[in-house]
Amino acid sequence: MLKLAYSSVLAAAAVSYVSAQSFVSDPLVDKVVPYTAIPYQVDQHTADRGPQSGYNICNSTTETQDSMCQTGFMNHIDDFCLFAPPKPNTTIGDSEGEEVAWCTKKGHGSRLIPEGALYGVQVVQSPGYIQIVGFIDQTKLNIADGDYGGELDSGGQDGRGNPIGGLVYSNAFPSNNGDNSSYQQSRHWTYFIGGNTFCAKACDDTQPNAAALCEHIYDRIGCAYNAPSNAKNGTFEYCKGDDMVPVGQYVVNGVTSTWTQPAETVSITGVPYTPTPAASSQCTTFTSASLYTDLASVGVSGSPANPSATGSSGSGSGASTTKSGSSPSQTGNSNSAGTAMGLSIVSGFAGVLFSVFAFAA
Ligand SMILES: *[C@@H]1O[C@H](CO)[C@@H](O)[C@H](O)[C@H]1NC(C)=O
Ligand SMILES: *[C@@H]1O[C@H](CO)[C@@H](O)[C@H](O)[C@H]1NC(C)=O
Ligand SMILES: *[C@@H]1O[C@H](CO)[C@@H](O)[C@H](O)[C@H]1NC(C)=O
Ligand SMILES: *[C@@H]1O[C@H](CO)[C@@H](O)[C@H](O)[C@H]1NC(C)=O
Repeated sequence: MLKLAYSSVLAAAAVSYVSAQSFVSDPLVDKVVPYTAIPYQVDQHTADRGPQSGYNICNSTTETQDSMCQTGFMNHIDDFCLFAPPKPNTTIGDSEGEEVAWCTKKGHGSRLIPEGALYGVQVVQSPGYIQIVGFIDQTKLNIADGDYGGELDSGGQDGRGNPIGGLVYSNAFPSNNGDNSSYQQSRHWTYFIGGNTFCAKACDDTQPNAAALCEHIYDRIGCAYNAPSNAKNGTFEYCKGDDMVPVGQYVVNGVTSTWTQPAETVSITGVPYTPTPAASSQCTTFTSASLYTDLASVGVSGSPANPSATGSSGSGSGASTTKSGSSPSQTGNSNSAGTAMGLSIVSGFAGVLFSVFAFAA
């Protein structure tokens, strides 16, 4: 987790809190949960970070703007969900364990992304994953203005995921043979949101490289490294692409090396390579109006933009976030989501000095 806004007091509190946490014996990433057999809550733990704050069975009853649904989808450019806070004006760091699903389409039992929240979206479908990168107005998704956010994934510091019990499904993988009603679980997924951008990747677990392509131990270096893309603000496009080179791997003079993110107590003074997006092709562009016909209207009576969330018993678990921070540091191409969340290798690591603990892989 990355978090920009913090105090040393909070950081100190996080240390003792986190050291008390243990890694569970039944991590979320190992839980095979067919779409047809989703339990009310996939996470049954109650210790440490507390119980799962929401639920995984999401249906027409739960499809409101205060839904606590924690089952998300990454299907297509017109049909995906983001994980974002249940309550307004919240940092990702303070809410990572309890994010809820906000979807572009009705039918998932979730909140709907509000109108005007999506400025640009690029979907790349590769042999190993579906990747969605976008530009957003994060305040419409309850994320505090100016929060540079951090990583959510199916791992987490205790193996319970962030959000705790968050499940991700897709109908975009080959196993579905084009049948949109059949969903395959993605157990390996990563997701960064903050700085008015997001990047999400759901890997196809039936492919050999899922864990590497959706590696989640690089939480301090943002979208630029974790989901290199050429997404452009204002553009909505769907492309085919090659798989990316796994995060951390780079080639110099024909020799492949792996850079590993240091422990949170160690500053990152530079990453020894510059990530490049994998080749993409067959891009189709759309207008947002043609894609997003179900978005929630904002400020209209009866469509609360500021839901009063219930059931957030996991609240406070945010103390577990690492305080690495990083300025958004728009190096060069400010239109690239990669750089917008790139957490520059040059100037973005001042906050890392305050990092307090190692993120468990
Ligand atoms: C709808 O979802 C809620 C929340 O998970 C659950 O309690 C309820 O039983 C579900 N309803 C049906 C008909 O499945
Ligand atoms: C969000 O919270 C911060 C910190 O509590 C506060 O200063 C700010 O006014 C709040 N913003 C909104 C839009 O409520
Ligand atoms: C599946 O969904 C996609 C995107 O929502 C749509 O373009 C496609 O036509 C759908 N396919 C079928 C068979 O319904
Ligand atoms: C994306 O474009 C919108 C509309 O022009 C702008 O308000 C927003 O700040 C841009 N986002 C980023 C991250 O550059």
